[in-house]
Amino acid sequence: MGHKFDPKNVARLDDPARLDYQPVRDVLGLLELTGDETVVDYGAGVGYLTLPLAAALPRGRVVAVDMSAELLEELGERLHGQASRGATRGTDGATRASDGAAAADERVELVHTADNRVPLPDGSADAIVAVNLWHEIYDEPAALDELRRLLTPGGRLAIVDWATVERPIGPTAAHMLSLDQALAVTDGMGLAATAVHPAGSLFPYHYAIVARPRA
Ligand SMILES: C[S@@+](CC[C@H](N)C(=O)[O-])C[C@H]1O[C@@H](n2cnc3c(N)ncnc32)[C@H](O)[C@@H]1O
Repeated sequence: MGHKFDPKNVARLDDPARLDYQPVRDVLGLLELTGDETVVDYGAGVGYLTLPLAAALPRGRVVAVDMSAELLEELGERLHGQASRGATRGTDGATRASDGAAAADERVELVHTADNRVPLPDGSADAIVAVNLWHEIYDEPAALDELRRLLTPGGRLAIVDWATVERPIGPTAAHMLSLDQALAVTDGMGLAATAVHPAGSLFPYHYAIVARPRA
């Protein structure tokens, strides 16, 4: 069984060093967004990517999915906090967004799922992002089926996860998948890898894969 993240270690998701070794910009770059897509942040945690994604989707939306009600609640509070920090009072006394933060917040939907069922129709995700999740769900067929079900025929799945290389930080490599194992999982889902970045190329400690449904 994949090694599940313990919500009491939430501080690890907030480690500022992540911005150096796993820059949000480079993760989002894998998705090649145009701004009007529906993107599922599967295993969103407390939202390392969620609000940046919403900001990158001025005409789209983000569906942030997690099995942990605790982490999702924290994510909701953070989104709400961001929205109110971005709000100002107009001359008529009405509260409105000053920098788009409230609007970005409104483009995020939070979904708690304990059974890998996401209440979206088949083929409704233009893109799915799975960061530090693959080692947790690789042997969970219901999760993999749900990801595949959600993807549009032309959609893309971006996977970024800790590599089995020697590294000074991160979870023990024994709990992780090798790049070949990760690719075998996407292949088994009927997806073809269109970009593969071993650790040490795009990210120092993580591999990244972009996979799309086979025609
Ligand atoms: C290591 S955390 C990464 C969180 C976030 N993606 C990030 O990069 O900060 C993995 C997250 O995936 C969630 N998760 C694991 N298996 C899941 C599943 N089958 N369905 C939904 N969420 C899941 C965990 O609850 C946890 O929040």
